[in-house]
Amino acid sequence: MKKLICGNWKMNCTLDMLDSFSKNKHITESPHADILIALPFIYLPEWKRYFQNYIIPCSQDVSEFIEGPITGDVSAKMLKDMEIRYSIVGHSERYKNHDETCEKVNIKLRNLKEYGVEPILCIGEPSHSRESKKHIEFLEDQIGRCLKDISHSTINIAYEPIWSIGTGKIPEEDQIEEVLTLIKRIMIQHNISGRILYGGSVKPKNAKILSKISGLDGFLIGNASLEYEDFKEIINTLLENIVA
Ligand code: PGA
Repeated sequence: MKKLICGNWKMNCTLDMLDSFSKNKHITESPHADILIALPFIYLPEWKRYFQNYIIPCSQDVSEFIEGPITGDVSAKMLKDMEIRYSIVGHSERYKNHDETCEKVNIKLRNLKEYGVEPILCIGEPSHSRESKKHIEFLEDQIGRCLKDISHSTINIAYEPIWSIGTGKIPEEDQIEEVLTLIKRIMIQHNISGRILYGGSVKPKNAKILSKISGLDGFLIGNASLEYEDFKEIINTLLENIVA
């Protein structure tokens, strides 16, 4: 299976950034990985002009509705119409800032499936669950609710501990492996295929350690994807080191 590396630019994007990344085409030409950048909706149509085929555009979220009087939303049907093939769903910043729920994420996943857009489902525990050693319980409940009655689907799953996002802290390797085992078990139960990613403070300096974790198929990268040199270094490190 090809690796998957997704830069998540969040609400950090300018035409100048698109322009400067587009001048560095060679970073992403690997037959072994799909390289994505998740852009704010308004910039997504620009991808054809700036990225052509060498960086795949990804949505940062999608509406739980398909069409109708829903002011301000963008649906899976619209993503398909605009040839956007991937969407992040359930990022913890959506839970924090936009009242995201696992039940809404479940509907979003179904809608994406219907319109053939491949999801990157984010899961991750808050620090208090990790500290009280309740993280597996938390994650099992979260994934179970997000995937309720969904099977035979392609869903990429990104493990993003909330306490790691934007903090510079990353889990120990065995802590990530424990969660990977859980995710794999649930994917088998639901007959779900897809790649398993890690996200949360992935940087050039920790990419090698993370890349060696068995069973990891790629990264979701926030801050470090904003700088072309950092993004390139992480991609190269993953491709050189990742264990099949
Ligand atoms: P970070 O963000 O790499 O800046 O920690 C990751 C994410 O939120 O997807």
